[in-house]
Amino acid sequence: MLRGFLMLAAFFGFTGVALGAFAAEASQELFDAFLFGLDDGLRIEGDAEAGGKLFTKTCGGCHSVGEGARGGFGPELNGIIGRPAGTTTDYQYSDAMKNSGVVWTRDKLAAYIEAPKKVVSGTRMIFWGISDPEKIDNLLAYLETFQPK
Ligand code: HEC
Repeated sequence: MLRGFLMLAAFFGFTGVALGAFAAEASQELFDAFLFGLDDGLRIEGDAEAGGKLFTKTCGGCHSVGEGARGGFGPELNGIIGRPAGTTTDYQYSDAMKNSGVVWTRDKLAAYIEAPKKVVSGTRMIFWGISDPEKIDNLLAYLETFQPK
């Protein structure tokens, strides 16, 4: 009798845990979907003008962009979005950058601006990184204005 009870208890205990786990997973998914939807809905386009100021201040010492931009301390950044890494012809890249196989999508650029060495370990770009997503959005909006039309 006691044994039967224990077995039953063990059984229900198990299904209880399994159901609990299922519910937790389902609500996690709902939560993710909610966050994702929120992120999608509220996402504002970066401010290119603010991005321009930030670029001059934080990237401009090493990079140029726009008409007549050339490689300097760092490579020029015209048409950077969608450009394979390490491919301008007037700049000597590090081997790490040349062989990275990275293509500069918006996501890769955002990650690189945030933490260069995490995206291209061994890159020569010495930059502490910007972690504010709004600033990164603004920078990308600015760089986007130099895409070939
Ligand atoms: C201290 C100088 C310096 C600063 C500041 C700097 N960079 Fe760089 N950047 C470099 C150098 C040097 C490289 C080349 C790295 C290599 O070859 O490993 C580079 C490479 C890059 C590349 C890859 C280009 C390509 O052709 O593959 C991008 C994109 C880039 N930088 C964006 C930025 C942005 C955006 C900022 C500002 C948020 C910035 N960098 C700030 C020096 C700098």
